[in-house]
Amino acid sequence: MAGDSSAQGMRWHWQDLDYAGIDAEQVRGSDELFLLLCSASFMESGSSTYTRNLIEYFADDAPVAAWLNDHWEPEELQHGRALKAYVQHVWPDFDWDAAYADFFNEYGKLCTVGELEPTRGQEMAARCVVEMGTTTYYQALNAVCSEPVLRDLTWRIRTDEVQHYKHFYHYFLQYRKSDGLKRWQVAAALWRRVAELRQSDTDVALRHAVAWRFGHAPQDYEAMSKRVFAIMAHEYPIELAVRMVMKPLQLSSRLQRWTERPVAALTRRLLLQ
Ligand SMILES: [Fe+2]
Ligand SMILES: [Fe+2]
Repeated sequence: MAGDSSAQGMRWHWQDLDYAGIDAEQVRGSDELFLLLCSASFMESGSSTYTRNLIEYFADDAPVAAWLNDHWEPEELQHGRALKAYVQHVWPDFDWDAAYADFFNEYGKLCTVGELEPTRGQEMAARCVVEMGTTTYYQALNAVCSEPVLRDLTWRIRTDEVQHYKHFYHYFLQYRKSDGLKRWQVAAALWRRVAELRQSDTDVALRHAVAWRFGHAPQDYEAMSKRVFAIMAHEYPIELAVRMVMKPLQLSSRLQRWTERPVAALTRRLLLQ
C-alpha cells in the first residue's frame, strides 16, 4: 500500500527514532523550530497528492511509475509521519490532525496536473529543483538544531532527499535525450521551479502552522515567517543549492565557473530574502 511504512527497501523506518529520548525542554521554547518542523510535516504528509499527478504523467513508463509508487511516495510520507511524531511528542497540546486537515483543504487544490511541465524531461529537471529544495532545507535545519533526536531525524531525511534528487536526475538524462530537449528549455523549467519554491506551497503550510498554534493576525504571520527564514538563511548551504540546480544544464566547467556566482546571488535573493 502506498505510504505503508513497511514498504520494502526503505533505508529506515519512522519507528526507529528514539522519541522517548527526545530532550523536549531543549526545543519546546522555540516557536521558530515548531514552525519549521510543523510546516515540513504538512508538506511531506501532503506529498501523495503530487505523487498521483506525477504517476499519471509517467503512467506508461513502468520503471519511473514503480519507483514513484514504491519508493519515493512511501519515503516522503514517512518523512511526514516522523516529523508529525516529533511535533506531537514535544508539543502535545497542538492538534496536528485538525491543523493538517485545514492545511490540506487548501493545499490539495494547488496540486493539479496542469501545473506539471510541458515535457517529461522538463518535469524531471523541475523535480531535481524540488529535491534540491528539500535537501538544503533539512541540511540547514540540521545545522540550526542541537537536540540529538532531531539532528538524527533531519539528517536521515536529508539523506533520502539526496537519493531522490539522484533518481530524478538519472531519469532526466534519459528524457532529455528522448525529448530532444534544448538547454534553454531545461533552463526555463529550472527557473520556473526555483521561482515557485518560495511561493504558494511553503507559504500555505507555514500560514496554517502559525494560525493553528498562535492564531495570529496576518501581520504577525509576516513577522514570524521573516524570523523563521532569517534563521534558516544563516545556515543555508547556498553552494550546494547552486550546484544541484545547475547540474541538469550540463555546462562545461569553464561556463559553470563563470555562472556560479551570479546564480548564487540570484538564488540567495529568491530563496532567502
Ligand atoms: Fe521528503
Ligand atoms: Fe524528496
